[in-house]
Amino acid sequence: MNLDTQLLNAFLADGALAHENIARAAEVIRAGGLAAFPTETVYGLGANALSADAVAKIFAAKQRPLNDPIIAHVADDGWEELADLRDPRVAAPARALARACWPGPLTLVLPRGRRIPANVTAGLDKVGLRMPAHPVALALIRASGVPIAAPSANRFGHTSPTAAAHVLDDLRGRIDLVLDGGPARIGVESTVLDLTGETPQILRPGGLSRERLEEVLARPVSIGQKQMRDQHEAMPAPGMLERHYAPGAKFIVCKDLPDLLSQRGAFAARGLRVGLLITRGQSAACAGLSPQFVMGDALAEIARELYAGMRALDAAGAQVILITQVERAGLGEAIADRLRRASA
Ligand code: TXA
Ligand code: MG
Repeated sequence: MNLDTQLLNAFLADGALAHENIARAAEVIRAGGLAAFPTETVYGLGANALSADAVAKIFAAKQRPLNDPIIAHVADDGWEELADLRDPRVAAPARALARACWPGPLTLVLPRGRRIPANVTAGLDKVGLRMPAHPVALALIRASGVPIAAPSANRFGHTSPTAAAHVLDDLRGRIDLVLDGGPARIGVESTVLDLTGETPQILRPGGLSRERLEEVLARPVSIGQKQMRDQHEAMPAPGMLERHYAPGAKFIVCKDLPDLLSQRGAFAARGLRVGLLITRGQSAACAGLSPQFVMGDALAEIARELYAGMRALDAAGAQVILITQVERAGLGEAIADRLRRASA
């Protein structure tokens, strides 16, 4: 594949939507091509979700295994026709969550409706649906007139792109177009919630917290980590694979700041180039140690800057990247999950 990838601004200088450019991207989607676009979580690599041929191009461009299902992105109530909502035990929580949390960083896994081609769901009888909370994504879906199948717009196994430049780094020449909407606001992927079983199960923690899901559903929600780890070979959801969301360098999660400093010393003594992915509060203790990438202290800032930090330290030639563990509440659940996978 060797395409001339176009980079177009999604916003005008005054902050309004660049409708002409969004229309160009919509033409690409309608013509069966590949257009990357911003969402509030990470950039997506979009294709017409109703066309098996278009969706096949996503797998080829990303070098993604065919057994990894892709989320279909929607912009309005038409989503209900993409799922099979005949079972009220599925329909009621799905509608309640859609009403309370969409548009937003939540993917609902529901029984598949007939219009969705089999390769979108990797042959599964369930489909992942999400309404993204980003004006460009919503405008693009509406202008395309079809749901948009979109995984994160990175090569398979790499960290997800949180800026248009990251998309080009991974996929330039392999896709038709990138809409540049600036840096992603949330920075980690959506929470994937499976509503097809006896109890709602989080398949991937993400931008919407478990606490919020439990509040809307008024019942406990489990995180299916263990089950997925045990079954991941059989289960076609390799987003759940270990060693995913990974930078090129060896990635190590330290217990705390003293541990990080002592590991840095040990690696540096062996002649390795050590990158530090630290928070502002940790930066005084790490003064003069380079390369380093400094994130904000709040969980929301860490989520937003984590992947950019991994990419920057990779680009700075780090052979090892060190970071400290985060508290596992709210967004911390998703961050801790990505740190664990990146270090697997
Ligand atoms: O925030 C996000 O979710 C971003 C933006 C672009 O929307 N998308 C994203 O897509 O991260 P991707 O393909 O990189 O990760 C989607 C995850 C994968 O782990 C996939 O296995 C799971 O969702 N998934 C999608 N459809 C599924 C299905 N039908 N059943 C089970 N898991 C599914
Ligand atoms: Mg991905």
